[in-house]
Amino acid sequence: MQPILALSFLLPLLAQASPVNTHKVCTEHTLSVDVTTNNLKWNFPALKTEDDIAALNTYMGRRDAKSLPPLLLPSEEPLTNATYTISGTLCKPAKGASDTLLIATHGGGYNRAHWHPAIKPEQYSFVDFALNKGYSIFYYDRVSTGKSQVVPGIFASVYNQAHILAGIIKQVKGAINPELTDAAVLTGVSYYGLDSAATMQSKQSRIANLVNPKKWGHLDSFYTSWVDKWSNAEAFFKFPYYEPDVLQYAEDTKEPASFVETLSVRNSNFSSPGFTGPVLVLDGQCDFVACGGLCPGAFENGTEKIFPNAKKVVTYSHPNSGHSFNLAPNATAAFEVITDFLQDNGF
Ligand SMILES: *[C@@H]1O[C@H](CO)[C@@H](O)[C@H](O)[C@H]1NC(C)=O
Ligand SMILES: *[C@@H]1O[C@H](CO)[C@@H](O)[C@H](O)[C@H]1NC(C)=O
Ligand SMILES: *[C@@H]1O[C@H](CO)[C@@H](O)[C@H](O)[C@H]1NC(C)=O
Ligand SMILES: *[C@@H]1O[C@H](CO)[C@@H](O)[C@H](O)[C@H]1NC(C)=O
Repeated sequence: MQPILALSFLLPLLAQASPVNTHKVCTEHTLSVDVTTNNLKWNFPALKTEDDIAALNTYMGRRDAKSLPPLLLPSEEPLTNATYTISGTLCKPAKGASDTLLIATHGGGYNRAHWHPAIKPEQYSFVDFALNKGYSIFYYDRVSTGKSQVVPGIFASVYNQAHILAGIIKQVKGAINPELTDAAVLTGVSYYGLDSAATMQSKQSRIANLVNPKKWGHLDSFYTSWVDKWSNAEAFFKFPYYEPDVLQYAEDTKEPASFVETLSVRNSNFSSPGFTGPVLVLDGQCDFVACGGLCPGAFENGTEKIFPNAKKVVTYSHPNSGHSFNLAPNATAAFEVITDFLQDNGF
């Protein structure tokens, strides 16, 4: 759901041409990832009831919201260390694998199945698409989703999510060769300064443990979910570019994400001067979350400033798609843009 959260990072290990095949070998993995966390401070009454979150939405949607006290304050405590247990799936083509490994991170509101949905995988699975191109792929559940460790919502800031991803990359890379170069593919993001108030309103978030105590009772009240299927359609899809059963699937398999994550987008510094590989930013043309519903003319701005030392920065707007470009009817063509970008850059 959140702009920067539907992002996938890639860890190419060695570039090499690879034949196409359709069979895969997948294994389940649990990683212990050491990270330093910044512990933000909540600056609003505690979220206990749906009234509280309704009040929060009103606060964030006010026309003078930008001049109101921020909901999150920087930590007053030093950074602390933590170890998180992350669960993921590693798939390799059964034959003819190239030496490039992709590491795929899902966005808020989903789990690892985002990249390999059970519904019509031949149309919507990036995992299968990438495997057919010869890539191996590791796709994992972010903290507090799927089989990964549940952490307090206040620890699920963008900063912490990014450090967990970095920890995973470091660990996988360290196991093979720390000197290897990377490429980055970011999807459903923009850096032109969009304020996400409209997205917040479209989601009408509800406290997950109250909505479904049986399923989500283990999550604290920072974990929220958009209200229903039509809110999902509004924020993540673009009518009429979705199949009704795919929207229903997305709704049935949604997972709560921490409100802190969404809010922390505002006080995050995405500047990445240390990144020197090629960067692709791919958004659905009508991405409501990342671009306020229209990416061309907006999402191109700012990306080069974020990655001033990247070998190359490419922005691509995929037509007839909302935020969840991977669940739009023409998804495989977007997957092709991604794998073409990798191939063009030697991965
Ligand atoms: C956190 O870990 C780093 C590196 O492993 C170490 O240098 C530092 O002292 C640790 N900080 C705390 C508060 O334990
Ligand atoms: C953001 O990070 C970059 C690079 O690390 C730094 O140069 C810049 O000053 C930071 N910006 C802010 C507003 O802290
Ligand atoms: C993006 O940059 C162009 C050229 O600098 C400018 O004309 C346009 O208004 C910017 N768009 C947004 C949404 O900031
Ligand atoms: C499908 O996606 C590709 C890649 O973005 C694009 O070039 C093509 O125009 C799209 N086709 C339709 C019918 O949207």
